[in-house]
Amino acid sequence: MKILGIESSCDETAAAVVENGRHVLSNAIYSQIAKHRPYGGVVPEIASRNHVAKLPSIIEEALENAGETYDSIDAIAVTYGPGLASSLLIGYSAAKTLSQRLDKPLIGVNHHEGHLHSVFMIENPPAEEDAYPMLGLLVSGGDSSMVLMKAPGHYEIIGSTIDDASGEALDKAAAILKLGYPGGPIIQKTAEGGNPKAIRFPRGLESVDRGKWVYKYARDLCFSFSGLKTSLLTYVKNLDHEPEGQELADIAASYQEAVADALTMRVERALDRFEIKSFSCAGGVSMNRVLREKLAALSEKTGVTLLLCPPPLCTDNAAMIAGAAYEKVRLGKAANEPIDVNPNLRL
Ligand code: KG4
Repeated sequence: MKILGIESSCDETAAAVVENGRHVLSNAIYSQIAKHRPYGGVVPEIASRNHVAKLPSIIEEALENAGETYDSIDAIAVTYGPGLASSLLIGYSAAKTLSQRLDKPLIGVNHHEGHLHSVFMIENPPAEEDAYPMLGLLVSGGDSSMVLMKAPGHYEIIGSTIDDASGEALDKAAAILKLGYPGGPIIQKTAEGGNPKAIRFPRGLESVDRGKWVYKYARDLCFSFSGLKTSLLTYVKNLDHEPEGQELADIAASYQEAVADALTMRVERALDRFEIKSFSCAGGVSMNRVLREKLAALSEKTGVTLLLCPPPLCTDNAAMIAGAAYEKVRLGKAANEPIDVNPNLRL
């Protein structure tokens, strides 16, 4: 089954063709980063205007690169939430129009479901019975959470950020250090050669007791990154000069270390608490080298299999949406097409 996926939830305009949920035939992406960089973050109206301008040619590119046509694909998948309403609507209207015009099914996909599925889009994915129950660490610019998947398609959020997302923490740190946008890759680059132990930044809710709850989540499985950001701001304000060279590298490395530690620490607690056969990490921040190394070390220590998202699928893309759509079809969960977008869609 060949599915054309469309993704426009934030600032990436993307389309892809995926066969049977795993085989990526094409993955076309127009990144709007350069358009938003002058503003230090995503501007919703600029994002939707660029989706309108670019989506038609990105869809054509995805079909052409896959050697497919509108006639040869079997279904159309689209992200219908969560995300920016004005951005989601562009991809959704395009997908709905195509579905009606071509008389092909429309499959709505939760953006997070796409990220969680992306770790299976590798050469030799583990068999289902070896992967589940599974823990998914979702880390992006808009969210940081841990999802317990007892079986394919069953999602239970067991921990979430109570303030900023991990990607947001990196983006804000880069802004404080006047390094540019988006922060994650720049902090990683600036941290090269830096000492991650130079400054001890907080890990957020680090020593919170087991048994305390925030909303419906165990507090010690939740993340908090706003204190980390404030602590960097205070550190930089207290310097009587702009950090550069080795000092800047040390700050970036220490900050990156704190983000990666905070995430890995919660995963370790969850692995300890639940019966889990494998754990995964997906979303833009899963590109981070230090985080990947820490998770790999945790896998080694616990003997629990780690599935990491392939780098081209870490940041927003449509291949993961087409892949997750196929899973929904396989599990019999794709029957009802979405009737609207939902910016606050939950797993
Ligand atoms: O998943 P994504 O593309 O978009 C959202 O849905 O948010 O993630 C974007 C986030 C940004 O915050 C960006 O700074 C971060 O992913 N990111 C990274 C790296 N590359 C992108 N964070 C840490 N290290 C990286 N190498």
